[in-house]
Amino acid sequence: MEIVILENSDAVAIEGAARIRRLLEDKPDAVLGLATGSTPLAMYRRLVADFRQGLVSFTGVTTFNLDEYVGLRADDPQSYSGYMSRELFDHIDIDRGRTHLPLCEPGTDPATVGPCYEESIREAGGIDLQVLGVGQNGHIGFNEPASSLGSRTRVKTLTPETLHSNSRYFDDPAEQPELAVTMGIATIRSASRVMLLATGSRKAAAVRQLVEGPVSAMWPATALQLHERVAVLIDNEAAAGLERRDYYDWVNRKQRQLLLRYGES
Ligand code: F6R
Repeated sequence: MEIVILENSDAVAIEGAARIRRLLEDKPDAVLGLATGSTPLAMYRRLVADFRQGLVSFTGVTTFNLDEYVGLRADDPQSYSGYMSRELFDHIDIDRGRTHLPLCEPGTDPATVGPCYEESIREAGGIDLQVLGVGQNGHIGFNEPASSLGSRTRVKTLTPETLHSNSRYFDDPAEQPELAVTMGIATIRSASRVMLLATGSRKAAAVRQLVEGPVSAMWPATALQLHERVAVLIDNEAAAGLERRDYYDWVNRKQRQLLLRYGES
């Protein structure tokens, strides 16, 4: 696991955007896995600014979002589809036909969404880079504690903590769905690379478990320890609970020296 501890949330956004830009320079038709929530917002703004300056193009890019609420229409502003349009897709040159979310609009049988989504990811050739945030309870996507580490895209019931923390996005609490379709933990682990962003002291306990805790379904993010190429980009506040912080900083300095000498592998 590559653990990159940066000064603040702005630095995390800058680093995250730079990594996506570098990937698209190497592979303009990359498949990106995307997250919603507050954490990646600054990174998306940065990518939009980069696009406006002509530093990056998304014309060949395909995207798959991690999750979507059950029962919301794609054009519902409270849906994750609405979020992605507002925060990223409406402002860049992406082909909307190549953007995917596990939509489960009213009338759709939720059980059918997961297998179709998995099939679409396979048809696209798999995800090159999966962007993740992490919940305070250690969830990734909406894989809440006790999710199977071998899970694939399916319906999950949200925990009261997650409902509470996401209630800020809903004007009327009665409109907040309690079910979501989410990529599974095995789906996330199938991505060639994973980049998890976490900022702020609220995330310190989850980050501690993710990096230093034992692998456990009770902290789903710990499953990333089993992945070959994971970068964890965090700010000082999110890193506050890490016991081996000095070591991670030292490793990073060494990595930078290697990079300067041999370039990126
Ligand atoms: C979002 C997602 C969630 C969030 C997590 C953190 O698509 O799948 O796992 O990444 O809940 O949310 P924020 O960033 O709002 O703290």
